[in-house]
Amino acid sequence: MCGIVGYIGNRNDVGSLLLNSLKKLEYRGYDSCGVAGISDREILVKKDIGKIEEVDKKLDFSSVKGSIGIAHTRWSTHGGVTKENAHPHLSNNKKIAVVHNGIVENYQELRNFLKENGFSFYSSTDTEVIPNLIEFEMRNGKNFEKATIDALRKIEGSYAVLVLNADEKKLIAARKGAPLVLGAADDGHFVSSDIPSFIEHTKDVTYLHDGDVIIFGNSLKIFNLLEDKEVIRPVDTVEWNIEQAMKGNFDHFMLKEISEQVETIQRAVEQDKSIIFEIVQQIKEAKGIFFVACGTSYHACLTASYLFSKIAKMHVNVVVASEFPSYEHFLTDKTLVIAVSQSGETADVLEAVKTAKNKNSKIISLVNVMGSSLHRYSDQSLMMHAGPEICVVATKTYTSQLAILTLLIYALVGKYEEGKKELKYLWNLIYNLTSANIRERIKQLSERLKDSNHIFLIGRGLQYPTALEAALKIKEVSYIHAEGFSGGELKHGTIALIEQGTPCIVFVSEENEKEIISNAIEIKTRGGYIIGVASKNNEVFDFYIKVPEVGNTNPIAQIIPIQTLAYQLATLRGFDPDRPRNLAKSVTVK
Ligand code: M6R
Repeated sequence: MCGIVGYIGNRNDVGSLLLNSLKKLEYRGYDSCGVAGISDREILVKKDIGKIEEVDKKLDFSSVKGSIGIAHTRWSTHGGVTKENAHPHLSNNKKIAVVHNGIVENYQELRNFLKENGFSFYSSTDTEVIPNLIEFEMRNGKNFEKATIDALRKIEGSYAVLVLNADEKKLIAARKGAPLVLGAADDGHFVSSDIPSFIEHTKDVTYLHDGDVIIFGNSLKIFNLLEDKEVIRPVDTVEWNIEQAMKGNFDHFMLKEISEQVETIQRAVEQDKSIIFEIVQQIKEAKGIFFVACGTSYHACLTASYLFSKIAKMHVNVVVASEFPSYEHFLTDKTLVIAVSQSGETADVLEAVKTAKNKNSKIISLVNVMGSSLHRYSDQSLMMHAGPEICVVATKTYTSQLAILTLLIYALVGKYEEGKKELKYLWNLIYNLTSANIRERIKQLSERLKDSNHIFLIGRGLQYPTALEAALKIKEVSYIHAEGFSGGELKHGTIALIEQGTPCIVFVSEENEKEIISNAIEIKTRGGYIIGVASKNNEVFDFYIKVPEVGNTNPIAQIIPIQTLAYQLATLRGFDPDRPRNLAKSVTVK
């Protein structure tokens, strides 16, 4: 998803400052980038398609001097990947520059209106209407601040925007439905889509609310469009540091984050007990429970639904967030909606939560990003405490989600301490599952699988969502077609694709060993190459990955080797696992 960052302060090297910040936003996924600063009351824009490093080599972002500037990484939605569509975008008089993350839904209408008023357009983006709308308002005699506020009021859709004015040397930032955080450093202010872009300068952050407009002047002021008044937002201190957000000795963030699970699972389990028990109470009182999430977070919810059934003998609904509107008829003020999201900014999840709020349902969330929209919209939140997850692909946050949800379900049946004990036992095993030895073993498998056209994965019961998540991991980084099935389901159609040597990963647990091994035999009989993820070897396996049997926490243990496999397949095939093509870290559009 697009990333934006701006700076205003005392330094005179805004170009190199923003270049450094932009690199920390690369993980969000992008196809073009750009920087704008002010020189002699003129706006200087440098932008193009391609990686930040390549574009910087060509255009030299550091040559943008001065103490105020904005920058952008674009993940295209409206308009192709072209230099013209890259941000920043200028107004017709070239006095206003804008970077934007989000979608201006009424841009066609605004564009036609502006064209009728003599404006020309040079890109096919929705964003270009914003600087021109501000110029239009200023032509009507308004100052920059008033013109920007009035222009924002006319925009439908979602945005985090930074607006630069050359004449007044001013910066305005605003958000509605897309993330934006303010950082106050000793020598100036940063405003960005995400904290890693400025954490080396300050840990003091302010999470902006929907409708907030920050006007940077002699003093900083926040005006809220929805409340129609000036507001004060609290300053928080982030707990993590730049080292945690940087790669350290690892080649990629994905590998670093897989390895961090030794600590992140531990942190997830060390939850504030009182919040767990408050949520347990709400679960007990609810009439109908819905889990909503997308992608990997959805797989964590699906796993939780098996645990709810198995441990608490309780039915919960699990709905992919984008499908949630079809279920709104079942929502009442007694319904509990549990929204799970790493970023807390996934548009489909936020939309589902809005739907539930309209029906007065209670909202509980499980999020990793403090101050994110979901965190703020919820009645109560549990934090994952996994630290920043920079790789686009979710790894450590998935196992944190599983650990927290498992603990919650144990607490629900009065077995909180037992749950904690099982999870503590598990986290001691994680060292081994993320060790260099295991990586070496999995490397042999990656060599065998790297040219496969398909990989199939099967599991039963708790291992079924694991098969789905493992398939997602493999396909999103290695681009090999991978599909997860419940053990019995493959033979209802897809088994037709099994040929001599087709790889099939089989997740085995003590509970379902007999049935799943019998499914593995069915596949092997048709020529399949069987990879067993199990606590003991079996003659049907062509390749064996040993993972200890840990009962209800098997889903955590069993996914880790496959995260490593996905990582290695990507690197062996020459792909960057941190930034898979076409993917964004947080999907802030519907
Ligand atoms: O931030 P969220 O947990 O809401 O994100 C949900 C999905 O977009 C995310 O899990 C996605 O599927 C990742 N590509 C998984 O690796």
